[in-house]
Amino acid sequence: MIVLGIETSCDETGVALYDSERGLLADCLYSQIDIHAQYGGVIPELASRDHIRKTLPLIGEVIDKAGIKQSDIGGVAYTAGPGLVGALLVGAAVGRSVGMGWDVPTIGVHHMEGHLLAPMLEELPPAFPFVALLVSGGHTQLVRVEGIGRYLVLGESLDDAAGEAFDKVGKMLGLPYPGGPHVAKLALQGVTGKFTFPRPMTNRPGLDFSFSGLKTAVRTAISEAADVDGNIDDRQRADIARGFEEAVVATLAIKCARALQQTGMHTLIIAGGVSANLQLREVLEKTVAKHNAKLFYAQPRFCTDNGAMIAYAGCQRLLAGQADDLEIRAQPRWSLEALSAI
Ligand code: KG4
Ligand code: ZN
Repeated sequence: MIVLGIETSCDETGVALYDSERGLLADCLYSQIDIHAQYGGVIPELASRDHIRKTLPLIGEVIDKAGIKQSDIGGVAYTAGPGLVGALLVGAAVGRSVGMGWDVPTIGVHHMEGHLLAPMLEELPPAFPFVALLVSGGHTQLVRVEGIGRYLVLGESLDDAAGEAFDKVGKMLGLPYPGGPHVAKLALQGVTGKFTFPRPMTNRPGLDFSFSGLKTAVRTAISEAADVDGNIDDRQRADIARGFEEAVVATLAIKCARALQQTGMHTLIIAGGVSANLQLREVLEKTVAKHNAKLFYAQPRFCTDNGAMIAYAGCQRLLAGQADDLEIRAQPRWSLEALSAI
């Protein structure tokens, strides 16, 4: 079965075609970063309007790229939540409508389930069961995964998500939006140990996270390092970026180790935008080795938002006989645990 996947939950229009027999056929991504960068963050109304402009042309493009006919498509999957409601509605309305027009079943996919299953697109996919660390701009969660739709959230952020913390620290350091990749790049030039920031909530039991205190600690360090005019030299900016990244990565690694221990599982997957972070991958490789476990992640372009993960997740559910009715659904808030198993 060939499934068209549509992702429009935030600031990326992602469209892809996944074939249950042959794997990923093609994917196209349009990033709205240039539109939002001038405002330092995503403007929801601008995001929705741009998805309207881009979604249909990208569908045509991905069909051409895959070299298939529209009539070869057997189902349509779109991100139905969580995310920005206006942005979600565009993908849901387009997905539902083309599905109706083509007379094929459609299904609304949970954005975080898409991320969670993205490592399945790789040549060596993980096998169930596993522990998943989901680290994106909106979520930080540790999930016990027994199979598709069989999710138990073991812990999550009580405030900022890891990606959000990267983005806010990026802003404080005067870096462009989204800050994550820029902070990571700057951190490469910094020196370990020049700034040591707290590893929040690691000295008490449990698997929840909190990153807002860390963000405040970074803000304080920046203001202390700045001269009377508020300027800070490049070396110190890099050292702060390094200290911040190390604190986030160490915190995530401690909790991942705890989750592996608690569940007795030997497979860890990381997914979502922050899973593209090389420092995180490197430290987690060491963590899993200590626990006799294995680490899996998607290639960088499938860590951040994309249509391929939605096409894959939707394909699995459509093959299991699940499909939506005619209603166009967008759920800005939606728990992973509410999903049905297949
Ligand atoms: O999964 P994603 O594309 O969108 C959401 O579902 O939120 O994640 C985007 C987040 C942003 O906060 C971005 O700064 C962060 O992922 N990110 C990174 C890196 N690449 C993307 N954070 C740290 N290091 C990176 N290399
Ligand atoms: Zn995402």
